[in-house]
Amino acid sequence: MTSLRVVYYSADQDEDRWIPGLQAALPGAEVLLWEPGASLADYAVVWKPPQQMLDEQIGLKALFNTGAGVDALMQLRLPPGLPVIRLDDAGMSVQMAEYVCHAVIRHFRELDGYEHDMALGKWSFRKPRSRLDYPVGILGLGVLGERVAKAVAQFDFPVNGWSRSPKAVEGVQCFHGDAQLADFLAASRILVCLLPLTPETEGIVNATNLAHLRSGGHIINVARGAHVVDADLLAAIDGGHVAGATLDVFRVEPLPQGHPYWNHPKITVTPHTSARTLRSESIAQIVLKIGALERGEAVAGRVDAARGY
Ligand code: NAP
Ligand code: GLV
Repeated sequence: MTSLRVVYYSADQDEDRWIPGLQAALPGAEVLLWEPGASLADYAVVWKPPQQMLDEQIGLKALFNTGAGVDALMQLRLPPGLPVIRLDDAGMSVQMAEYVCHAVIRHFRELDGYEHDMALGKWSFRKPRSRLDYPVGILGLGVLGERVAKAVAQFDFPVNGWSRSPKAVEGVQCFHGDAQLADFLAASRILVCLLPLTPETEGIVNATNLAHLRSGGHIINVARGAHVVDADLLAAIDGGHVAGATLDVFRVEPLPQGHPYWNHPKITVTPHTSARTLRSESIAQIVLKIGALERGEAVAGRVDAARGY
């Protein structure tokens, strides 16, 4: 791949690790950090780029997003027809499966209660629960949601999944579309959000939808903070309909000091870490896709700008 030029930009300012990695994987290509006025490139590899980059880079053949979610990119004016390609798993789905299974099991087995007892030096058994009473509903049955659904099902929990289009996933009762959302929720006690953030999905974890869930469950949000109406979730927990939540993503990140989530006894907060971008896996995937695009082949993970994911 001689003569190709790739520009890199990340709002995380991690170019000192990404640019050498991309350069090593693309010998002969020129990989450079995007700065205002940078030379025109064939490909861009980005995380939360500024509008100016997209306005200036008018020669791109494709734009690679170094995450699975493209909601930040979808807020920008993209050149019409520019292929946007997101990370397609690249080592994220196994991390998501670990995180969600841990949160489901921690709630189901009341491990938070045992942690509390331990702090008090208390030896006290809780009555075993039936997993049949704890059906897990996964909002989003895409690359990550499907892997998570299958992982949770391995522990013999009943699993429901909800997507936009109809799906068939072994071991998962599949629902789709707005018309089946209430039925999906009514069949679930633990709710996992793995949707992309789009105008259709923003605020989907709200009072109305929480009320459809079976009571005494747990909410796990590993998608985007804006999927949850924070006041509605807090009211559902404080009112007792929802037992608690495990939240990895927030409307404002880092979660501001003083936010009620920080000290809530029934809420676990983690710092947007449920599935991290793994640099070497991601670079390998992007480089393979640049090769495929150069040969005129289709690649997985192409974003449909009209759908927003
Ligand atoms: P994906 O493969 O695009 O899957 C998205 C799923 O959501 C699909 O099943 C899709 O339905 C469904 N969906 C989208 N809009 C819908 C709607 N309006 N109604 C019903 N279903 C809808 O995405 P992914 O790779 O699994 O990633 C999901 C999200 O996880 C990302 O967008 C990102 O925000 C988040 N994420 C978070 C972290 C973290 O560390 N917390 C890490 C990675 C990703 P169809 O199948 O019918 O299209
Ligand atoms: C992380 O949140 C991602 O979208 O990859």
